[in-house]
Amino acid sequence: MSLKFNKKHNDMQNKPEGVIGLPPSKFPDERLFLYALMRAIQPKKVIEIGVSAGVGMVAGCRALKENGQGVWVGVDDWSTKHGGKARSPDVPKKNVIKDGTPEKFFKFVSSDSQKYLKSQPDNSADVVIVDGNHSFEFAYKDSIEAIRVSRYLVLVHDACNLPGVHKACNKLSLRGVFITSSRGYYMINVGGGK
Ligand SMILES: C[S@@+](CC[C@H](N)C(=O)[O-])C[C@H]1O[C@@H](n2cnc3c(N)ncnc32)[C@H](O)[C@@H]1O
Repeated sequence: MSLKFNKKHNDMQNKPEGVIGLPPSKFPDERLFLYALMRAIQPKKVIEIGVSAGVGMVAGCRALKENGQGVWVGVDDWSTKHGGKARSPDVPKKNVIKDGTPEKFFKFVSSDSQKYLKSQPDNSADVVIVDGNHSFEFAYKDSIEAIRVSRYLVLVHDACNLPGVHKACNKLSLRGVFITSSRGYYMINVGGGK
């Protein structure tokens, strides 16, 4: 039996977002992954390093709203480096609010990733998502701090297959779960350490 690719289903990758009511995006599986993870973990505090226009934040905040608890802290220096599309929190804020999540579930910190993470106590967040500067130096340093600060580390890199981030993942040699996605891969390190 041969299965013919049905062009009508070309749009299937956008359908699951519709199931949870999110508008279609360029990165549907990233959004679904973050949404499902946050619904499962029921975090009280999530730190996202690298927010840009808020593709991940919209989905994560939706989950927190449905959980009825938690705060999503979006940290960005708005440098527009490494895929940054926003020069201020106004853009992601508008997107999250447009999706219906009230402001009590999120806040923004305009800061360099290292400065912010270093100011955070050990184990003070449930999840830290590392998606800021994709150079080896930052991917590595941010992940080290994220492991210290969080119970779960999630590397959501469209750039996991880029040399700097890939090298950092190897050097960290974290125990984790790797999930392939359209943007490279996600890595979840459960238990905050090697
Ligand atoms: C790939 S984008 C983040 C994408 C976002 N997570 C999403 O779901 O669409 C990377 C972001 O990291 C930010 N960034 C780059 N270097 C940074 C640094 N050292 N500290 C904080 N943010 C940084 C950029 O301004 C950019 O917005």
